[in-house]
Amino acid sequence: MKKQVNTLWGAAFAEQPGASLIRFTSGRDVAPVPPADQALVPYDLWVNTAHTVMLAKTGIISPADATMLLRGLATLEEEVNAGKFTLDPQAEDVHTAIELWLTRQVGPEVAGKIHTARSRNDQVVTDMRLFLRDQVINLVCNGLMLLETLIELSDTHKSVPIPGFTHHQHAMVTTLGHVFAAMASMISRDLKRLETWYELHNVSPLGNAASFGTSFAIDRTMTAKLLGFDGPDNNSLDAITNRWEPEGDLIYAQSVLMNHCSVLAETLILFSMPEFGFITLADSFCTGSSMMPQKKNPDVAELIRGKTGRVYGNLVGLLTVLKALPLAYNKDMQEDKEGMLDTVYTLQGALQLFAPMVATMKVNRERMRQAVNQDFSNATDIADYLVTKGLPFRQAHEIIGKIVLYCIQNKRYLLDLSLEEYHQFSSLFDQNIFEVLQPEHVVNARNVYGGTASNQVAEAIVRAEDVKKEAALWYDSYTAKNK
Ligand code: ARG
Repeated sequence: MKKQVNTLWGAAFAEQPGASLIRFTSGRDVAPVPPADQALVPYDLWVNTAHTVMLAKTGIISPADATMLLRGLATLEEEVNAGKFTLDPQAEDVHTAIELWLTRQVGPEVAGKIHTARSRNDQVVTDMRLFLRDQVINLVCNGLMLLETLIELSDTHKSVPIPGFTHHQHAMVTTLGHVFAAMASMISRDLKRLETWYELHNVSPLGNAASFGTSFAIDRTMTAKLLGFDGPDNNSLDAITNRWEPEGDLIYAQSVLMNHCSVLAETLILFSMPEFGFITLADSFCTGSSMMPQKKNPDVAELIRGKTGRVYGNLVGLLTVLKALPLAYNKDMQEDKEGMLDTVYTLQGALQLFAPMVATMKVNRERMRQAVNQDFSNATDIADYLVTKGLPFRQAHEIIGKIVLYCIQNKRYLLDLSLEEYHQFSSLFDQNIFEVLQPEHVVNARNVYGGTASNQVAEAIVRAEDVKKEAALWYDSYTAKNK
């Protein structure tokens, strides 16, 4: 018996949708959004801990006070992990909430010392930087899984000819493998872009205090090390003003990644239309209609396309809110969080479904073969053929134009004509024209670096594999470092 799901459709579906599909496709229709600072709680605890350790090691607070503070923070961490710590809207923000909690736990005398030599201004930048860094690492992980799927598909289908389209019209023959290799090339750049984020922004803002540093003899290198940063950042004014660049760089990287996914999503939406019939998406990545029982809608692919706009919106929102502020802290900066978090949640949902959706689709090779046999996507190849026989390309182009018109008028395709018919247009044609026009020949003739030939696609796969290996090593080293 089929599993019962809470939907108004699904009787015609062989597989039922999973909870993650429903969550993603219903979007914000029914889902509440947690408070922005909720995401910063674990990072604020970590920053508090590192700061306390440093205050004790530098002699700014006593070991006894530090021990009480660290015990308090450890207890709070247990509460957080048990889901018992909720943010009180009256407590203003996560930093205030945690300090108030500590005050209740260890008393105002000791708790009041934790904020020595710092401000909420450097605290929030540091919390956010740690949060962003984890997102970069998660994205590299998801990007790697997607890249692996694309590499596999590219390899499997590197000799499967399909029509290539420009202007939504049949243009030249390509292969399904070449299409996936193109996507793999895009995702390879996404991985490198994310790694660059880390190189640029993995520095510690802690110790810049309100915007002007502190008179206490703190050790910024120590806290940077404790928090897994490569070192402290350079200038306290720059650091506190910089509430948008790491965020913006990451939302931009995510925008590009979403764009790449949306290109493939749109291609798959088209290819799954009955008029194409090239692919069939698995039931578990589609939804149905509450009215038309036969409908199977590619909702996941459509939402990846749609949510790309939402991610761009978040980027433009951030850039606009944070523009033209004077140096140092301004309250406008607090507005940097929601768009960032919305982008992160959007990407998490999209990437969780995208790679498996692509991996589980059914490829209908016969329909693809039919499409390349019944079109003129090999026309350029006859023109090229005549050029190799000495005709200028422009003349060859005109002759082939006439042949195509002849075919259309007689309801034939280029491979259906006889050599005698070809001779009516040019005496340069030989029997081997029929070999030249075969889709496999057309594809393999484009044996140029990056081209459609199956050996070129195989080389593109090797290049993508290299990026994958390098990104996997990067991922392993950074996850090990940030444990
Ligand atoms: N919640 C604040 C923010 O995100 C923390 C910093 C508050 N600083 C201040 N000077 N009011 O910006």
